[in-house]
Amino acid sequence: MALVSLKDYEKRACDIIPPIALGYFRSGAGDELSLKLNRICFDRLRIRPRMLNSSASRDMTANLFGQRYAVPFGISPMAMQRMAHPEGEVANAKAAASRGAGFTLSTIATSSIEEIAAGAPNSPKWFQLYIYKDRKLTESLVRRAEKAGFKAIVLTVDAPMFGLRRSDMRNKFSLAPHLTLANFEGHLATSVQSKGGSGINEYVTQQLDPTLSWEDVKWLLNFTKLPVIVKGILTREDAIIAVDMGVHGIWVSNHGARQIDSVPASIEALPEVVAAVGDRTTIVMDGGVTEGTDIFKALALGAKMVFLGRPTLWGLAVDGQQGVEHILDILRKELDVAMALAGCKSVADISRNHVAHESTYAKL
Ligand SMILES: Cc1cc2nc3c(=O)[nH]c(=O)nc-3n(C[C@H](O)[C@H](O)[C@H](O)COP(=O)(O)O)c2cc1C
Repeated sequence: MALVSLKDYEKRACDIIPPIALGYFRSGAGDELSLKLNRICFDRLRIRPRMLNSSASRDMTANLFGQRYAVPFGISPMAMQRMAHPEGEVANAKAAASRGAGFTLSTIATSSIEEIAAGAPNSPKWFQLYIYKDRKLTESLVRRAEKAGFKAIVLTVDAPMFGLRRSDMRNKFSLAPHLTLANFEGHLATSVQSKGGSGINEYVTQQLDPTLSWEDVKWLLNFTKLPVIVKGILTREDAIIAVDMGVHGIWVSNHGARQIDSVPASIEALPEVVAAVGDRTTIVMDGGVTEGTDIFKALALGAKMVFLGRPTLWGLAVDGQQGVEHILDILRKELDVAMALAGCKSVADISRNHVAHESTYAKL
């Protein structure tokens, strides 16, 4: 059967990916309430289409931090993608480059900063940073990303430790021995081996700084010239602190519902962050996006770019770079049709009035 939606890819990928990797990719924290909310809350939004405003084609370009993207969506940072496909992050980055989409490399990737730069040399890529106890090592990652031509640093602030993901605990998650955390070759342990529980949580507890604070944001802003985007913000309070401190962007995200369970869906948190700082900074979001209409809804609520995590892993597992390219093509087509039928000629035309919460209609 032809694969025509991101959900089709998910089903196919679940038959291909080995159980331990699949558990790591798919799971959320705890009882996975927030994981469900990430989807349900998109479904609770209705599109309010405007008629008789059509055009022959739509302008989907987005401009962020001085870079132009052909589409207003991109790929979220995700660890250890060579568990999905032998070319892992490199294939994902090449697919994003070929479609003019965004791409963000994880600190704990199985492909290095330099491999990504060599694989997708001319596209605007971002580097996601975790802050290690070893600050010199952390700084050296940023320097390598700068040197390799990355265009922004995405500082993940929702992970002083990892959330409790039960699949990884049950499976005693370990990274297959032929794979490595490639950014640390020659600097630090590159394997992830269970010592009795989730190997990735044990690694993070050992290496990442649990005392992460706003001082660290200041520290990063002081030494890098790249724009700094703070990822994992879910409240107006934190958004205001971050923007007052001088960050260049806010990434509204609940980390794919993998940190604390019971937090709001990212799309639920987006309006409060946009209301607080939308006129002072660039806001992007991710979490639960599986349809072009989801991208439309997030843009309508004020995101300048919308990111996807897991769906690109499903594309990667099914057909490597081509699978991810097909995922991005499906999304482009779905967004294009949504824009055309809602009367939006460009991304800038997608306004707050184009969406309403289902409760608006519940009284009828
Ligand atoms: C398998 C997996 C690994 C992830 N690794 C990272 C990571 O290394 N750094 C990070 O900031 N976020 C990480 N995330 C969170 C994603 O960047 C993103 O916020 C989330 O996947 C978006 O939700 P979605 O998968 O529903 O699109 C990871 C998510 C998944 C599913």
